[in-house]
Amino acid sequence: MLVHTIKEVREKVKEWKTQGLTIGLVPTMGALHAGHKSLIDKSVEKCDKTVVSVFVNPIQFCPGEDLDKYPRTLDEDERLCNEAGVDLIFAPSPNEMYGQGHILSNDFLTYVIPPYFYVDKLCGKSRVGHFDGVCTVVNKLFNIVQPDFGFFGEKDRQQLIILKKMVKDLNIPIQIIPCPIVREESGLALSSRNKYLSEEDKKEALALSKILFNIKACYQKGITDCNALYETAFSYLNNHHSLEYLEFRDAENLEEKTIADNNTIVFIALKIGNVRLIDNISLGDL
Ligand code: PAJ
Repeated sequence: MLVHTIKEVREKVKEWKTQGLTIGLVPTMGALHAGHKSLIDKSVEKCDKTVVSVFVNPIQFCPGEDLDKYPRTLDEDERLCNEAGVDLIFAPSPNEMYGQGHILSNDFLTYVIPPYFYVDKLCGKSRVGHFDGVCTVVNKLFNIVQPDFGFFGEKDRQQLIILKKMVKDLNIPIQIIPCPIVREESGLALSSRNKYLSEEDKKEALALSKILFNIKACYQKGITDCNALYETAFSYLNNHHSLEYLEFRDAENLEEKTIADNNTIVFIALKIGNVRLIDNISLGDL
């Protein structure tokens, strides 16, 4: 069932709550692919009812980013959700979420601002204000749907860590369930933004996962010095690539690591043409 208003969601949720049913929420920006589907499947398996939100959230896009051209494929998304057993799809308009004639600045809108230590690095460094927009919309979705569980992908690991911190700091009674990264057979992590890549670009994009897999293999052979691990990346990069960051950070609090251990996440962002791609790997997972 597809709805566009907060009122309709609240009515459904009220009905489910009075029946004592558990609710899982999978927040998305649509253009759903197998990565999103893995979150949906997990929710359908774990919860009595699953809600998927499809909302291209304007306040998490920075000036000059791809808000207008971000892929919007609601009909296909609806089909995927129905086949996966989703109970409710919530696809609000920006007006529904932020009010008629919304002015999306923090002069006029209440924002949820994550701690500076978590946002002054990695994607937050180049996407100033992005995580304020993410925390604000996820908080709103949590308040609208009131789920027991929220499902988020490790693909956006900084986002996941920040949202876990938000839930803890604000005592939000929702459990965040992290879900592993879904990749193509080639290693490329699935992303709605892969639609922007040409066939040639897609080959170039393999550098991301190759660098990460190689670093993990080196770590497993016993190399723990992060500088030495960092150096191994350069054999996979050519001068068409611009490496935005390759960093070794703690899985809980994003502190920088100089010596890698099983709690270390390796984060990478690479620009291929105009498309910025991100990926990460946990050195601890087998
Ligand atoms: P979106 O990019 O649509 O992603 C929705 C969810 O799917 C996120 O939790 C993301 O980490 C997960 N995801 C995307 N690709 C994945 C992959 N290859 N493997 C596993 N999970 C994957 O992230 C957002 O939307 C927004 O910021 C949102 C949280 C919805 C707030 O607007």
